[in-house]
Amino acid sequence: DAPFETLIVETRGGVGLITLNRPKALNALNATMIRELGEALAAFEANEAVGAVVITGSDKAFAAGADIREMADKSFSDVYLADLGGGWRRVVECRKPRIAAVSGYALGGGAELAQMCDIVFASETAKFGQPEITLGIIPGFGGTQRLTRAVGKAKAMDLVLTGRMMDAQEAEKSGLVSRIVPAEKLLDEALEAAAKIASFSRAAVLAAKEAVDVAAEVGLSEGARFERRAFQALFATEDQTEGMAAFVEKRKPEFRNR
Ligand code: CAA
Repeated sequence: DAPFETLIVETRGGVGLITLNRPKALNALNATMIRELGEALAAFEANEAVGAVVITGSDKAFAAGADIREMADKSFSDVYLADLGGGWRRVVECRKPRIAAVSGYALGGGAELAQMCDIVFASETAKFGQPEITLGIIPGFGGTQRLTRAVGKAKAMDLVLTGRMMDAQEAEKSGLVSRIVPAEKLLDEALEAAAKIASFSRAAVLAAKEAVDVAAEVGLSEGARFERRAFQALFATEDQTEGMAAFVEKRKPEFRNR
């Protein structure tokens, strides 16, 4: 595996694992880390053996936000010309499912990274927040948009305007988090879920993710039409024939990504 300055990147079976690794700065997302996340995900995207990705941090912090020290002296021209925040495109556009396994602080850009993932598992110690308002800015990596879609306007406004943190229970109740897991089991459970996803027909997994993502972009009838066409298209795959034959024959399917 390629060496990264700010990440530990490895594969575990069919799962790509990215561990954010700037412990002294609570995994603050500096430009290098954002670039490396894009590179690591692009490599997993290109790696046929990888079917899903887990992104995690440390026990204390998933990521405590964009790197404030790096941003402190920047002007509008600096951030505009560098397209600060634009570097996330490569993370967002990854077609393989990503699970965020969050322990400790997921603040600002860290919360936004979790929101960019397809599934969020949280340990009981997780704390989510958009504290940008306390710094004289607003979320810039999609927080006002993805958080609002995940938790609704009332809670998004509360979090974005007051800068307060919400714990794992509140995050699960409000729809940002899908499972709360004891801290010591968090990574294993995320890896297990990712391995399960990776074991299914790749085409079905990519189509399922794409169809759910379309729900955030279009109206109901257009979304349902997109889903129907993707559903029908999967009948062109050998994996559909195999999956259904295995059910009828009461055996385990062997998906070959064909
Ligand atoms: N950027 C840079 N450094 C950070 C950081 C950040 N976002 N968060 C923490 N650190 C650094 C601290 O400066 C400190 O470094 P030193 O030891 O060199 O002083 C180290 O990490 C440990 O942090 P603390 O001593 O503050 O740890 P704590 O346990 O007392 O507090 C915390 C933890 C509540 C998370 C606190 O660190 C904090 O409030 N961090 C900032 C959170 C924040 O405002 N995030 C939003 C950033 S803006 C953003 O993300 C913009 C966007 O949407 C695009």
